[in-house]
Amino acid sequence: MLDLRQNGVYVDATVGLGGHTEEILKSIGSEGRIFGIDKDDEALKIAADRLSDKRVVLKKGSFSDMENLLSLEGISEIDGILFDLGLSMLQLKDLDRGFSFVSDKRLDMRMDETQKMSAWDIVNRSPEREIDRILWEFGEERLSRKIARAIISLRGKQSIDTCSGLSKVIEEVYGGRGKTHPSTKTFQALRIAVNRELEQLRGGLEAAVRLLKQSGRVCVITYHSLEDRIVKHFFVDNAKTGLLRVLTKKPLLPSIEEIRSNPSSRSAKLRVAERI
Ligand SMILES: C[S@@+](CC[C@H](N)C(=O)[O-])C[C@H]1O[C@@H](n2cnc3c(N)ncnc32)[C@H](O)[C@@H]1O
Repeated sequence: MLDLRQNGVYVDATVGLGGHTEEILKSIGSEGRIFGIDKDDEALKIAADRLSDKRVVLKKGSFSDMENLLSLEGISEIDGILFDLGLSMLQLKDLDRGFSFVSDKRLDMRMDETQKMSAWDIVNRSPEREIDRILWEFGEERLSRKIARAIISLRGKQSIDTCSGLSKVIEEVYGGRGKTHPSTKTFQALRIAVNRELEQLRGGLEAAVRLLKQSGRVCVITYHSLEDRIVKHFFVDNAKTGLLRVLTKKPLLPSIEEIRSNPSSRSAKLRVAERI
């Protein structure tokens, strides 16, 4: 869907462990270039080892700041860009990073470990109203108010330091109800808030449209409905003003075979648009 061209200039806005970039490199010719961006130093180290190729330049930062990052390399226009949102396997699997509710490690959830604010700060320092808002807006958690109240009440006695400690509070509020794990929505919400994911996604998409050459493509893979809604509306709004042509009326979904071989792809949705 990126419609890769020989000697084109591409951006992998979420280079992660470098899987997509490695694949893109096969189709951009010997003079092509790809700029891989990520907030996560650990991921960038792994990507650098995997992608030792003079056509690849890796940049640390948020994709919402990509115009600055690219201008440092003398780049002001690109032929295509890919966003593969959310967490990498590294962030998901490494319990020390504090993203998982089964972890007994410190509540953290920062993609960029040099950032100051972590999930611990929100859970232990934010007012009840703010916690309620975060869980409601970013987790669509219908028990947001009760969970926020339970957090504040425990916080009065002791700090809530670990992922499993927070998860216990949520499980008590749920009292055994529900099909999915009761902590799923709260953990999603905190992760989105800590990493300012939705506002950076909007910023990243706007920057992509400004950078893309005519007929260059933007491909976005999302993993939950809040992200997907932003991408869908962004594409439709920009199609109305004549900047983009939407190439996926409905998002492309993984096949049953792909989900079987890669279960983390089950919630993925790919939307693609072309710069007019
Ligand atoms: C699903 S992974 C990407 C995996 C990658 N496509 C691969 O092939 O390995 C998402 C990556 O995006 C990074 N990320 C998420 N939001 C970001 C942002 N606003 N700016 C830069 N990187 C971001 C995360 O740190 C993570 O490494």
